[in-house]
Amino acid sequence: MILLRALRAEDSNFMMEYINDDEISSNFKFTRYPFSQEGFSNFIEKSWSDNTNIHFAIEADEYAGTISLKNINKIDRTAEYAIVVRKKFWGTGIAKEATNHIIKYGFNTLNLEKIYLNVLTSNTRANKFYQKMGFNFEGTFKRHVYVEGKYEDLNWYCIFKKKDDKEN
Ligand SMILES: CC(C)(COP(=O)(O)OP(=O)(O)OC[C@H]1O[C@@H](n2cnc3c(N)ncnc32)[C@H](O)[C@@H]1OP(=O)(O)O)[C@@H](O)C(=O)NCCC(=O)NCCS
Repeated sequence: MILLRALRAEDSNFMMEYINDDEISSNFKFTRYPFSQEGFSNFIEKSWSDNTNIHFAIEADEYAGTISLKNINKIDRTAEYAIVVRKKFWGTGIAKEATNHIIKYGFNTLNLEKIYLNVLTSNTRANKFYQKMGFNFEGTFKRHVYVEGKYEDLNWYCIFKKKDDKEN
């Protein structure tokens, strides 16, 4: 059982794990340049007053990850979903639970019509996870991101508001 809560200053201690783990950091765009705990602290502080980019901590008796709806567009009613979970929580089902919560929040509270995401094609685990969560593959931007000395393809996925979400 998890809940989504606002980020707290002390969460930055755990976020450093993402930088120090190649398997995680190689999948992120922000880790392509030096990133410090201070960078995470600034990110957390900014999140408290940002209505365009909403970031939640996934709380599972301790900080377990961050889940976001970014670039919220109130005209198109779209937002970009993103998630990172601490490695000790991989395969536990909390990523799934948190994703179900934020999708409901996006459709029912923010009244979005479409939630989309992008992910490196090479990130097999995340691609599999998004497909499992019901995100539909929309296409690939070829050689779109420069990571660790080479260009990588980027996969795009989305999920649309369903009738059921409107009724919940
Ligand atoms: C992406 C993330 C949130 C998914 O959470 P998770 O708890 O690891 O996901 P799950 O274990 O529920 O699902 C992953 C699926 O991929 C599968 N998988 C893992 N490695 C795989 C591989 N190399 N090849 C094929 N499938 C693989 C797992 O078996 C699982 O599928 P299953 O449930 O059908 O067995 C988490 O791995 C994470 O935070 N990763 C680092 C950050 C990241 O890459 N974020 C995305 C950036 S866009």
